[in-house]
Amino acid sequence: MFLNTHFPNAKKYWYEGKFYDWSEAGFHPMMHALHYGTSVFEGIRAYRTAKGPAVFRLPEHNDRFLVSAAVAKMKCPYTKDQIAAAITSTVRENGLDSCYIRPLLFYSYGNLGLVPKACPVELAISAWEWGAYLGENAARGVNAFIVPQRRVHHTQFNMTAKLGGVYVQSTICGLEAREEGFDEAIFLNMEGRIAEGPGQNVIIVKSGTLITNGRSESVLEGITRTSLLEIGRDLGYKTVIAPITKEDFFGADEAFYCGTAVEVIPIVTVTDGSGPAAPRVKHTIGTGKPGPVALGMIKAFGDAVTGREPRYEKWLTYIGK
Ligand SMILES: Cc1ncc(COP(=O)(O)O)c(C=O)c1O
Repeated sequence: MFLNTHFPNAKKYWYEGKFYDWSEAGFHPMMHALHYGTSVFEGIRAYRTAKGPAVFRLPEHNDRFLVSAAVAKMKCPYTKDQIAAAITSTVRENGLDSCYIRPLLFYSYGNLGLVPKACPVELAISAWEWGAYLGENAARGVNAFIVPQRRVHHTQFNMTAKLGGVYVQSTICGLEAREEGFDEAIFLNMEGRIAEGPGQNVIIVKSGTLITNGRSESVLEGITRTSLLEIGRDLGYKTVIAPITKEDFFGADEAFYCGTAVEVIPIVTVTDGSGPAAPRVKHTIGTGKPGPVALGMIKAFGDAVTGREPRYEKWLTYIGK
């Protein structure tokens, strides 16, 4: 019996064209993806708006989903439109106004050799009310920890894809940061510069300019990050995509994590644990409190996703009740 204790208001999941009760399990232990992480996924949010629930940047998420499938050499049996229809029907079926949506495409039950030659590619979609990813207090600012492990390098794996197996590194390092008493991890890349969080991008602010890094820095170029850069420009900030050194980060006026799950969360301190043998140094970012730019971006992003700012309605897919 699968309880929805950690998936508030999840009632049904979609699997291969049909809805199943949340508590119903039909998955076999020999499914390929369970063993080797041979799945790709998306993280999407829908928000309550005056015109009913709306999915934020659904076409962009689905484009990335299909890119991820291609990187994993999966033949996706669904078109982009079919995936979009399945996603919106999952939100409707669960009667959710505001939720997180998780499409998962995976090599299913067939054979267990590393080459999944007899495994069909299957799609499952779940939706539930996922509140504050880093906890209710995170809006006051979080303490980040630069983990010793370097982010998987873009020459080793195409980091524009969201492949299940690659997230093992995110899980382990996220746990490590928490074991050390911090709220969240930050990875350096192989070059020793700031990469990203386990499931978030990082944006810093210096003298009114928003600075974030690009794919050559071994990061996923997040859809939230791209949206915030556009919102930031509209608010009159300069935006720059460039490598971020540790010194840039420690000396920033402000810094924040951004991503679909976390949305926008200020980082108020960062502790450098990247040299396992070196002493750890804690750096306060700016004043050590959420700064005016981060607070302004949180407000503007909130207005965009909930349709309160008409300029960004282009990013919303209304799904009706
Ligand atoms: C590793 C990583 N970086 C960044 C992001 C932020 O991406 P997005 O804003 O598209 O959710 C995510 C979340 O999907 C992620 O998993």
